[in-house]
Amino acid sequence: MRIRGYRVGDVEAMFQLDIACFTPPYQFDREMMQEVAEAPNAIVVVISDEGDAMLGFVIVHIERKGRNRYAYIITIDVAPSARHEGIGAKLLQEAEVQVSAGGLHSIGLHVAVDNTSAIAFYQRQGYQQIATEENFYREAATDAFVYVKPL
Ligand SMILES: CC(C)(COP(=O)(O)OP(=O)(O)OC[C@H]1O[C@@H](n2cnc3c(N)ncnc32)[C@H](O)[C@@H]1OP(=O)(O)O)[C@@H](O)C(=O)NCCC(=O)NCCS
Repeated sequence: MRIRGYRVGDVEAMFQLDIACFTPPYQFDREMMQEVAEAPNAIVVVISDEGDAMLGFVIVHIERKGRNRYAYIITIDVAPSARHEGIGAKLLQEAEVQVSAGGLHSIGLHVAVDNTSAIAFYQRQGYQQIATEENFYREAATDAFVYVKPL
C-alpha cells in the first residue's frame, strides 16, 4: 500500500471510485471532482496498491469564515473491495496531520443521517456529533449530521 498526495491525472480514478462509493445524487461529476481536488485550498491524500491502482482518497478543504479558518472534509472514498482494512483510518489520520501542521485545531464534516457505516467510522475516529442540518442534501431530501474532531 502506498500513501501519497494528489497527482494530475488522478481525477478519472477518483471519479470512478466515487461512483462505486455513492449512489446519485451524492456522486460528483468529473468536472466537480477535478474542481474540488485541484482547488488551491485542498489537501488530498491518496492510497493506492502496489500496482498504483487507487484504493481510496480523501479531500479536505481549508475554508475561511471571516477571520477564522477551518478544515472541512469534502469526501472520503474507499473502494468497496478494500474496506475494513484500515485504509479509511489511514487517509483520515494523514489528512489530520496535514491540517494540524497548517496550524488548525479542528476538522469537520457533514454526513447523511442514513449513512450508518460512515457515521460509525467517524465516531471510531474520534469525531463528535455537534448538530443536525435539516435537508442539507436537498436533492436526496436527507438531513445531515455535523461532526467535528478537535486536533
Ligand atoms: C466510510 C469509509 C470511508 C470507511 O473506509 P474503510 O477503509 O472501510 O475504513 P476502516 O477500515 O479504517 O474502518 C472501517 C471499519 O473497519 C474496521 N477495521 C479497521 N481496520 C481493520 C482491520 N485491519 N481488520 C478488520 N477490520 C478493521 C474498523 O474498526 C471499522 O469498523 P466499523 O466501521 O465496522 O466499526 C468507507 O466505508 C467508504 O468509502 N464508504 C462510502 C463512502 C462514504 O460514505 N464516505 C463518507 C461520506 S461522508
